[in-house]
This record gives sequence, C-alpha cells and structure tokens, in this order.
Amino acid sequence: MTKIQQNSNRTLCCRMVFAVLALFISLRGTVFAEPQDQTGPTLFKGNCATCHSQNGPPTAVGKSLNAPDLGSAPVQNQTNAQLQQIISNGKDNMPAFKDKLSPAEIDSLVAYVHTLSKRNK
Ligand code: HEC
Repeated sequence: MTKIQQNSNRTLCCRMVFAVLALFISLRGTVFAEPQDQTGPTLFKGNCATCHSQNGPPTAVGKSLNAPDLGSAPVQNQTNAQLQQIISNGKDNMPAFKDKLSPAEIDSLVAYVHTLSKRNK
C-alpha cells in the first residue's frame, strides 16, 4: 500500500465516524425526549369529548342526553371513587367504559375531569 492510499483510507474512516456520531446526536433529541403525560386529555378527547367537549360543558349531543357541565360543582364535588364508578359503569344516558378502558385509564380520566373545575374559578 502506498502512503497516499493509507491517508485517504484514514480520511474516509474519520468521515464515517463523524457521520455516525452526528446521526446519533440528532436522533437523541427525538427518541429520548421525555413525553409529557397526555394520557387523560387524549383519552378524554377520544372517548368523552363527543358528549362533554374537551373542556367539560356539554356539546349539542351531550345536551340532548342531559349531560351536565363537568366543571360544575355537582360533578366536581364528587370523590374520585364516585367518578370512577360512574365512568366504569355508566349512569342513565352516560355509557359504561369498563369494557373499553383499563382501571388506570379511568383513573387518568378522573384526574382530568377534576382539572376542569379550575375553568370556573
Ligand atoms: C354518549 C354521550 C356520552 C359520552 C361519550 C360520555 N358521557 Fe359522560 N355523561 C353523559 C350523560 C348523558 C351524563 C349525565 C348522566 C346523568 O347523570 O344522568 C354524563 C355524566 C358524566 C359525569 C357526571 C356524572 C355525575 O353524576 O355527576 C361524568 C364525570 C362523566 N359523564 C364523565 C365522562 C367521561 C370521563 C367520559 C369518557 C370516558 C364520558 N363521560 C363519556 C354522556 C356521555
């Protein structure tokens, strides 16, 4: 091998190492970024907002079924256990979700429902 060939091999090798490092660094930001806990709001949007709207006041569909404003005192004054029970088993026109959502998912929905009270203060 001549000296010139050895040098160009080394340059190529260095470039590859840099390319791999650059790729790794650019991926770190996306792959390892901590996700915020959006479980409650996302589940609510997917399962509940058709009747309750994302912020709690009933939609037209909700109103026609007699859904209350979820930010109102009669809803907010209930305990987590009471809300869990209603979301799991349903109540009058409110459908039951225990077959569709896990207990942990229902817990995050209860927590989300309780954040809706702030809106009225
Ligand atoms: C098909 C429409 C509909 C959907 C979808 C729906 N609800 Fe309801 N919800 C109602 C109605 C109607 C009521 C009023 C029930 C009653 O007290 O007669 C209600 C009541 C409630 C209450 C208050 C209960 C009380 O007695 O104070 C909570 C809390 C609630 N819903 C949470 C949820 C959550 C969380 C979801 C999604 C997992 C959801 N709802 C999905 C229609 C719906």
